[in-house]
Amino acid sequence: MKQILILLLFFTFFFSQNFTQIIHVIQTAEFTGDRLTPKADITFQSTPISNITIKLSDANKYQTILGFGGAFTEAAAINFNKLNATLQQQIIEAYYVNLNYRVGRVPINSCDYSASSYSFDDTPDDYSLSQWKLSNGHDLHTVIPMIKAALKATGPNFHLFGSPWSPPWWMKSNGQMNGSNRPGLINDPLIYQSWALYFSKWISAYEAEGIPIWGITIQNEPGFDAPGEACIYSADQEADFLAYYLGPQLKTDYPDVKIMIYDYNKDDVYNYSKTILNRAEAAKYVDGVAFHWYSGPYFENVLKTHEDFPEYFLLASEACVCPGSRGAIWYSGEQYAYDIIGDLNSWAVGWVDWNMLLDMLGGPNHLNASCASPIMIDQNSKTIVYNSEYYYMGQFSKFILPGSVRIDCQIIGSQDIFATSFLTPDGQIVTVVMNLNDVPRFFDLEFNQKFAHVQLPQHSIATFSFLP
Ligand SMILES: *[C@@H]1O[C@H](CO)[C@@H](O)[C@H](O)[C@H]1NC(C)=O
Ligand SMILES: *[C@@H]1O[C@H](CO)[C@@H](O)[C@H](O)[C@H]1NC(C)=O
Ligand SMILES: *[C@@H]1O[C@H](CO)[C@@H](O)[C@H](O)[C@H]1NC(C)=O
Ligand SMILES: *[C@@H]1O[C@H](CO)[C@@H](O)[C@H](O)[C@H]1NC(C)=O
Ligand SMILES: *[C@@H]1O[C@H](CO)[C@@H](O)[C@H](O)[C@H]1NC(C)=O
Ligand SMILES: *[C@@H]1O[C@H](CO)[C@@H](O)[C@H](O)[C@H]1NC(C)=O
Repeated sequence: MKQILILLLFFTFFFSQNFTQIIHVIQTAEFTGDRLTPKADITFQSTPISNITIKLSDANKYQTILGFGGAFTEAAAINFNKLNATLQQQIIEAYYVNLNYRVGRVPINSCDYSASSYSFDDTPDDYSLSQWKLSNGHDLHTVIPMIKAALKATGPNFHLFGSPWSPPWWMKSNGQMNGSNRPGLINDPLIYQSWALYFSKWISAYEAEGIPIWGITIQNEPGFDAPGEACIYSADQEADFLAYYLGPQLKTDYPDVKIMIYDYNKDDVYNYSKTILNRAEAAKYVDGVAFHWYSGPYFENVLKTHEDFPEYFLLASEACVCPGSRGAIWYSGEQYAYDIIGDLNSWAVGWVDWNMLLDMLGGPNHLNASCASPIMIDQNSKTIVYNSEYYYMGQFSKFILPGSVRIDCQIIGSQDIFATSFLTPDGQIVTVVMNLNDVPRFFDLEFNQKFAHVQLPQHSIATFSFLP
């Protein structure tokens, strides 16, 4: 009798359990209060109701995600350092706890978003870099405290990479950090060797501060004769510098540090990378290709780079919308998400934003540049402003954790909604869908011939998670 009762209790418990797959929904939508907001769970049904289907399948697996993040520019750090400890902690938690940022970028020497021009060795012809000092620059008092605060929140699972905008003025063929001749570096083996050593010194100095360096890009925007810090390399010059100077130097000093080429706009990512990757003496030192969004989407160029050179990873390394002083614009977040989805679906392993923190004028910086950032600070009232970019980034970064693997996500019956899907390390299928239309969109999320009925409001983005 007792056994029967236990059995009965067991079956009652067993069959009262829900064996339908629960899909959790997190949503951000204009004209509503939804900002990374959990919505009611939905479930799979046996029949579809919409003429639009987003069909998921985990039969094929694609790239593994490195992570998402933003840049520790001097501008970001200056804004951060002006806040009291409570507000600083709020910023760190916003990015590293709430959004799960796990990648960061830091300029090597000054850039357009520095307060002034600086390098770590301004002594002319100091080829051995005997006068090289991190304290000569601004890093020790600006970006390093902010990076340390981020590392405290993330633990060791953080990927930081450095990018130079310009070598010191005495290595430049125009004699200044601003602007660039073609080529930007003085064409002298002593200069090339010294500039290669500079990367190694920079990595050593950061590591001495307890900040592990995961990677570097060879040059920020090597095709851009910028008004601020710049240094132009043709693809062949970048290949030469890598093959005969930087590659051997880092192979000896820091063999695990990832080397990324290009780091400029997607319009030329395929052509530039192809030149370098077809030269075996340079290609053997390359780990990945980094690229920026400013020329427009060009997802086909990213995809083609993967298809022809599948052994190198692809990383979106910079993006932002300008100007920053015009107030919050919803469309900025949609631009981010459109680019993130397109890049991820073209094999990018991550997406790294530009300045993490700017003031309400989009500064400070020594070029009067004015761009927006996902979080901005009103330094007068000490108000933290979250722009749409923050929430749109979060719809990806919070859920598509490092180690997630992309799976098939096919949109049938629509050209104007966008989606990408991943299998996360804890076994969930996570799908991000964006509707940037002025009207809602109805669709079925299909998995294993089952259909979840979804209504996505106008100008919204949602993340759907379930255990397959
Ligand atoms: C089963 O799932 C449905 C739909 O989400 C829900 O309404 C119901 O409360 C669940 N039942 C149990 C026992 O969890
Ligand atoms: C799809 O369904 C919507 C209503 O949900 C309707 O407005 C639209 O015309 C349909 N499109 C096609 C191509 O059938
Ligand atoms: C930090 O600054 C904010 C904004 O000015 C203020 O409200 C808060 O009280 C300050 N916290 C501390 C601990 O000083
Ligand atoms: C890439 O190079 C090819 C061959 O030189 C040229 O036809 C093509 O226009 C280039 N593409 C871009 C985007 O510059
Ligand atoms: C930046 O703007 C300020 C104020 O408008 C102006 O005085 C200064 O000359 C500008 N600097 C540059 C480099 O354009
Ligand atoms: C580069 O240009 C900016 C803006 O005009 C100026 O503030 C800065 O001093 C210049 N730096 C150098 C090294 O010439």
